[in-house]
Amino acid sequence: MARILLGVSGGIAAYKALELVRLATAGGHVLRVVQTPASRRFVGAASFAALSGAPALVSEFERDPARGAFPDQPPPAHEPPSHLELVAQADLYLIAPASANTIAKLAHGLADSLLGSCALAATCPLIVAPAMNNHMYEHPAVQANLDVLRARGVRIVPPGSGRLATPGEHGVGRLAEPAELLAVCEEVLAADGAGGSRAGRSWAGLSVLVTAGGTREPIDSVRFLGNSSSGRMGLALAAAARARGARVTLLAANVALPPPPGVDCRRVVTAAQLKEACEQAFPSCDVLLMAAAVADFRPAAPAAAKITKSGRESLALALEPTADVLVALSARRRDGQILVGFAAEHGERALEAARAKLLAKHLDAIVVNDISRADIGFDSDHNEVTILTADASAHERPPADRGEAAGTRDASAGLFISRAPKTQVAEQILDTVERLRARS
Ligand code: CTP
Repeated sequence: MARILLGVSGGIAAYKALELVRLATAGGHVLRVVQTPASRRFVGAASFAALSGAPALVSEFERDPARGAFPDQPPPAHEPPSHLELVAQADLYLIAPASANTIAKLAHGLADSLLGSCALAATCPLIVAPAMNNHMYEHPAVQANLDVLRARGVRIVPPGSGRLATPGEHGVGRLAEPAELLAVCEEVLAADGAGGSRAGRSWAGLSVLVTAGGTREPIDSVRFLGNSSSGRMGLALAAAARARGARVTLLAANVALPPPPGVDCRRVVTAAQLKEACEQAFPSCDVLLMAAAVADFRPAAPAAAKITKSGRESLALALEPTADVLVALSARRRDGQILVGFAAEHGERALEAARAKLLAKHLDAIVVNDISRADIGFDSDHNEVTILTADASAHERPPADRGEAAGTRDASAGLFISRAPKTQVAEQILDTVERLRARS
């Protein structure tokens, strides 16, 4: 059972939202519905209220008799603002149908309706199902807006092709069928770990900042100095923290893979941009997971245009150091924050080198992997790591911990996690963070 907030915008496909409510409630979920004013021209509030068992709202200013509670909950004693209470209770927010106008407003963060302000306030996964005329759907403006939403971790359920509402019109733009929408909701809920109520999730209320990928430092207008980090470890951490109920901000440096649903993903390119974005997000985070591979040096004077080879025998690049992001952040940490670094090291002295970084950067933990191996680490789905903590007692593990199944053992020098999918390694890292938090 999950609590699904359904946003309905104006379009003929709004009638399909009724069927979705019927199917979802029959499947054991509970729903609240918010509508745009235009959608009321297509389907009335009484129909949604009858099927969902709760009032359907259209405005922030109308009184909600249920005070933001879902049908399985008693209304709270106070009268909270609808947009905040509805999304605080929801496990998932689905907007179906999403008109071109609503998609544009979501992409630009407009909050001129209850549906829009709910989208801004939501920390649960957001799913958007477009429905409109085929020419509108294919318009570059609509596609660009959908790209913006995708980049932020919003799941888009593409419309189907076939006969459209206008007689004689065929093409892409039909709202996905209610059964398909429900299946996507259940898939996202399963990935988000929200099979039950939000309160059951252990990291609810925590704010987690994750960096992922590898920075690129321009040499000229088309070339850069980069590294081979794919961002997989950072994405796995972001997904795992989200699944535990945390609010997750992901700073993605040149990551081609899609961000996990429900995560606030912000893109950066260079080490300087990553530092700026980190400095902005760090003060409000409780946990920092610094998985990005950050350039230590950058070209001192990148050329504004493309450097040509004509007339050159050789080319020397002068490099200058970048600022160390972790050092800058740990210098201004506040009580209770947990900082985890990552160290890609070569060979035998890996642990020694990583422990030195742990101390020098004033971290709570550092995750070390041996990059001399081709089957783990960079651009692989697997990793094999040792987690070193400043407080070595954080390695103590309860007996029969689920980690044993993943092939882990305690090493006196740290917690060793033998080769495992990055999703499992991410869980182990989060378990360590949990133990560190319990001790801080
Ligand atoms: N890091 C950072 N800013 C940098 C470089 C690294 O915040 N300019 C972070 C990385 O994200 C990672 C940790 O520091 O979490 C360790 O990165 P690593 O490159 O292994 O450490 P360096 O201090 O750069 O040492 P080395 O000389 O071995 O590259």
